[in-house]
Amino acid sequence: MYLTNEEEGMLKGEQGLVIAKCMKLLLRLGEIYGADRMIKISSSQAAGVSYKSIGDPGLEFLKGFANEGAKVKVPTFLNPAGMDLENWKNFGISDNFAEKQLEIINTFKKMGIIITCSCTPYLLGNLPRFGEHIAWSESSAVSFANSVIGARTNREGGPSALAAAITGRTPNYGFHIDENRKPNFLIKVNVDLKTNSDFGALGFFVGKIVKNKVPFFDGIKETDTDKLKSLGAAMAASGGITLYHVLNKTPEAEKYKSTSNNLEKIEFSEKDLKKSYEELSDSQNPDLIVVGCPHASISEIEYLTKKLKNKKLKKEFWIYTSRTMKMWADRMGYAKILECSGAKIICDSCMVVSPLEETNFECVGTNSGKAAKYLPGFCKKKVFFGNLDSLIEKAL
Ligand code: F3S
Repeated sequence: MYLTNEEEGMLKGEQGLVIAKCMKLLLRLGEIYGADRMIKISSSQAAGVSYKSIGDPGLEFLKGFANEGAKVKVPTFLNPAGMDLENWKNFGISDNFAEKQLEIINTFKKMGIIITCSCTPYLLGNLPRFGEHIAWSESSAVSFANSVIGARTNREGGPSALAAAITGRTPNYGFHIDENRKPNFLIKVNVDLKTNSDFGALGFFVGKIVKNKVPFFDGIKETDTDKLKSLGAAMAASGGITLYHVLNKTPEAEKYKSTSNNLEKIEFSEKDLKKSYEELSDSQNPDLIVVGCPHASISEIEYLTKKLKNKKLKKEFWIYTSRTMKMWADRMGYAKILECSGAKIICDSCMVVSPLEETNFECVGTNSGKAAKYLPGFCKKKVFFGNLDSLIEKAL
């Protein structure tokens, strides 16, 4: 792999031992994937934040890095943690878990990483531009950045995202390269998709078939930021989709429009939509409702506020979002209305990376295709998958 003089210097330790270690890791990665050189990145997003996911070995690894003086060179945002960093006591988190989680957070802070604790960095001020190279790691954020924004990133693991953040470089391979951004499958959508969960159901269906290839969607009439974040998240969970194109909706789709009819074609009909909902549910009776996977935007919170105003929920109803959205919800009076209805807003965390398996809930209702796919495995819960209105109905 070609390295510039500066990168050679980094590798030799001219900028310190930690940078040398990170460069070595990235070089190895580049060699495995056939990269020709390193490229500069404008931002990074670090995953592997929850104590539930990384445990003591992960914490020790991070502490070692931070103690050796690791500092990020580019703006680096953080994925959700295993608990609400300010309000964890109200959600059954043990003292031991909280102590370890806060230690992880402080270690990231020491490295200069911004403690956003969200999987929607693009809603919080980390908004790359079209064509910009970045190194992000959370799969739904990666999918959104590549597909909806047209930025370029591979789906980084925790260590490689951290190494990229510390060196400001990533190896030039995968989705950084034009050739690999071409679609492989044409998905003909023959049904009107209305809700975020419809998009999650489509994503679940497509991810299973397309795996880690690039789908090109034709037939999606109406969409928006929330629906596309649901679509990308579900596809990344049921498959390994890192990039997708939607005709007339995402920035690179036009480039591939003329050749899309030559691709292997997959139809998505009303029947497939219904079947996906059924496949994602193994119970109809949730005793906990969770929304905000990916983290709820302010529009989603506003919608919930309108629906729950002057209502009393009979079931637990948890809304996961970023601390920034919560602040806006507070200012707008949404948080107050939601809390009066009995809903709870949880910041910094999510239903999958928090220790939900330690609670007594049996079945979790969600409108997220990604959460529905992951909750049985990660949290040992039964799932009801439905649209937001049906979840509200079940909770009232
Ligand atoms: Fe975000 Fe957690 Fe879902 S990280 S995408 S809310 S599983």
